[in-house]
Amino acid sequence: MRIALIGYGKMGKAIERIALERGHTIVSVIDIANKGDFASEAFRSAEVAIEFTTPGTAVDNYLQCFAAGVPVVSGTTGWLDRWDEIRQICIACNHTFFYASNFSIGVNIFFALNKYLARVMNRFPAYEAHLTEIHHIHKADAPSGTAITLAEGILENMPHKTGWRLAGTDGLPSELPIQAIREGEVPGTHEIVYESDIDSICIRHEAKSREGFALGAVIAAEFAAGRKGFLGMNDMLTF
Ligand SMILES: NC(=O)c1ccc[n+]([C@@H]2O[C@H](COP(=O)([O-])OP(=O)(O)OC[C@H]3O[C@@H](n4cnc5c(N)ncnc54)[C@H](O)[C@@H]3O)[C@@H](O)[C@H]2O)c1
Repeated sequence: MRIALIGYGKMGKAIERIALERGHTIVSVIDIANKGDFASEAFRSAEVAIEFTTPGTAVDNYLQCFAAGVPVVSGTTGWLDRWDEIRQICIACNHTFFYASNFSIGVNIFFALNKYLARVMNRFPAYEAHLTEIHHIHKADAPSGTAITLAEGILENMPHKTGWRLAGTDGLPSELPIQAIREGEVPGTHEIVYESDIDSICIRHEAKSREGFALGAVIAAEFAAGRKGFLGMNDMLTF
């Protein structure tokens, strides 16, 4: 498959390695220095683009991919305030967009487990839920996109919760607190704890490297290349 990479940072490089191992060809690499290359022949020849850049630049990159008619798979976090707009354009104009806040297969199993546990715990109000995420010190956004997806999974199964907020900020007791810790080079750890006076229940996912995210993104690109629509991990993994 002919793949274009948008963003050649830590994730872009890990994705390139895995894509080549899986027999794909990288036909174009776009980063800050050549961000006008969306109009190039090489970029337009891609069967799919994989985008991992920054919260402030991702949406513009999606629009450039739509304009070039290249399906786009993205893992950039921190742009979700424009989710509805991208979804609408993608569907109305019959483009292909695949997004995951976390491409790791293990994390997606964890998402399913989190929803199940929240559904069970909803019947036991003596337990208070809180969520913690730990990432490397270079991460631009907080809380992580994965933590937000986990929080949404809890909120959708615990109707008495009214929203989420960063721990330490003002808010209501009915809001789910998310603690965001930045530490060393941690690739990504997420933990959900339900705590009562007598015990606590904890589920935790700890990424050991970036490989899992990069492999998931390449598998998603293989899935998205022949499809249309606004796609995500649930479409691919069908949990
Ligand atoms: N969804 C997932 O599974 C997952 C996993 C890891 C990281 N992420 C997210 O992916 C994003 C990138 O992570 P990273 O660790 O590779 O970051 P990074 O800082 O190592 O790389 C980002 C790259 O994007 C480039 N860039 C910036 N603006 C650009 C533009 N306008 N056009 C093209 N390139 C541009 C930068 O020069 C840099 O090379 C972050 O938002 C991070 O949170 C998601």
